[in-house]
Amino acid sequence: MYDGAEQYGPEQWSLELNRLNGVLESTISPGGLVGDSADMQSLHSLIGKAINHSFPVVILGETGTGKELVARWIHDSGSRKNSPFVPVDCSSLAPTLIESELFGYVRGAFTGAVTDRKGLFETADTGTLFLDEIGELHKDLQAKLLRAIQEHEVRPVGSTRAKPVDVRIIVATHRDLKQAAKEGIFRQDLYYRLNVFSVTMPPLRERKTDIPLLIAAFLIKHADPTRAITSVGKTFWTAAMSYDWPGNVRELENFVERCIALGSGSTLEDEDECLNWKDCPDTAMLHAESDSVEPLHVLEQRMIYKTLGKTSGDKYEAARLLGIGKTTLYRKLKAYGPL
Ligand SMILES: Nc1ncnc2c1ncn2[C@@H]1O[C@H](COP(=O)(O)OP(=O)(O)O)[C@@H](O)[C@H]1O
Ligand SMILES: [Mg+2]
Repeated sequence: MYDGAEQYGPEQWSLELNRLNGVLESTISPGGLVGDSADMQSLHSLIGKAINHSFPVVILGETGTGKELVARWIHDSGSRKNSPFVPVDCSSLAPTLIESELFGYVRGAFTGAVTDRKGLFETADTGTLFLDEIGELHKDLQAKLLRAIQEHEVRPVGSTRAKPVDVRIIVATHRDLKQAAKEGIFRQDLYYRLNVFSVTMPPLRERKTDIPLLIAAFLIKHADPTRAITSVGKTFWTAAMSYDWPGNVRELENFVERCIALGSGSTLEDEDECLNWKDCPDTAMLHAESDSVEPLHVLEQRMIYKTLGKTSGDKYEAARLLGIGKTTLYRKLKAYGPL
């Protein structure tokens, strides 16, 4: 639990919010990264060293820790800021598509290629290409990527001519890239070429002192013009500070947004009531697979917890995946009893 919890009682929150808003202004980074914990301060000075260069940057860290924000920060603060920042999610593109997406293609390269098309490398020329989830990139493409980075040129699919490009590469992954390189899942030569400068994002559970500031920031970001929030109630506070946030800042942001949307009045309260779904004593049983016939409600419960596991506790996303409304999901979770 956060040491300063006492001073953040509900009565003090209006005052505290004012103070936090002041701190926010003076500590927010160019990329919009909020936090003034010791971890975040060392991150600030580390990133400062990467800004006025063009070497590749590797950003490591769990999902939702702000890896993409850091990539944008590096781009927006350096000499490339007036050129494009092009993000690519390597995990969402099919391996067959990604080559032509990255390097482009020429007319006739394959069925349907009726004109020449520029790839994302060329789109990012003089700017930054952000390769998110690089750990998921297929090995064939890893070789082609290495060539593009080393030679500063790309060869569109179906073309024999290479085109020069001037692109800064920033990559991110939730994987342990060094280990992946050791195990041969990730090409070692590419790993060494990329790993010139590396930044590791700390998980939110290791810097809980940033939570109040993040809450203040998200109250502004997701402000509802019909609901002025001047204080934060005990239920919200307790939930926010005692939870481990496996989905990190992204999950906290969703939580604040939901509590603003689902509640009413000037005090923000915990509208979820079952944020700590992981602590449910039945969770292990619910994850177990079994061949025997079980009551439907047990199966339903199991499926809901499984989905919550997949979405790191993000109930909006879980409800979407399960094809039910979020209110229905809340109702069902509540019916399973207190956690
Ligand atoms: N330190 C932070 N301050 C403010 N917002 C943050 C911070 N870290 C993450 N976020 C927010 O959380 C969400 C996920 O951030 P993102 O950079 O996409 O994380 P990652 O790429 O590590 O999964 C975004 O909505 C972002 O605005
Ligand atoms: Mg990301």
